[in-house]
Amino acid sequence: MYTLITAEQIALRIKELGATISETYQGRPLTVVGVLSGSVIFVADLMRSIGIPHRLGFVTASSYRGATTTGGEVTVGTGLLPDITNRDVLLVDDIFDTGRTISRLLKELDHARPASLRTAVLLWKDGCSQVDLVPDYHGFCIPNQFVVGYGLDYDDDYRHLPMIGVLEPQDLK
Ligand code: IMP
Ligand code: MG
Repeated sequence: MYTLITAEQIALRIKELGATISETYQGRPLTVVGVLSGSVIFVADLMRSIGIPHRLGFVTASSYRGATTTGGEVTVGTGLLPDITNRDVLLVDDIFDTGRTISRLLKELDHARPASLRTAVLLWKDGCSQVDLVPDYHGFCIPNQFVVGYGLDYDDDYRHLPMIGVLEPQDLK
């Protein structure tokens, strides 16, 4: 595996994102909603860089797919979602690849009638989108490579790594 984005680069970028988000939502009833499981590390760090009061909720999303392949139906769970009606919601995920997960989640959250609904992702994969939608905030644009670490997994491993890495053929099962 080789490192694509270091822990230091991630930390710096999250400070910038937090400052921008704090400015945008100043005086607003903000709820940050993380997408389990990939966003947990990002959402924990992002929250601590947002300098205004806000609440936290989670949703789950899974798509029927192989370890590194994309496509398939996205299944959404809202059992951990607090009441977001009339609140400003920032949906936070690890990566925007095809965009199908975020797109599906936005439709679901919209049913609860939030005051506003925006998206923040750590990584945005260049040129992979299959939906008519872009994230409102993103940490880094990356090439179309399979990445792990900082919450992102390959077959449920590697989430604990502090940096973003690219797997090499010998790392793949
Ligand atoms: P999308 O629906 O295609 O945008 O994919 C979003 C989800 O796919 C993310 O929440 C990740 O769980 C997973 N994913 C997409 N690309 C990668 C990757 O390069 N590494 C790890 N997980 C990925
Ligand atoms: Mg995920």
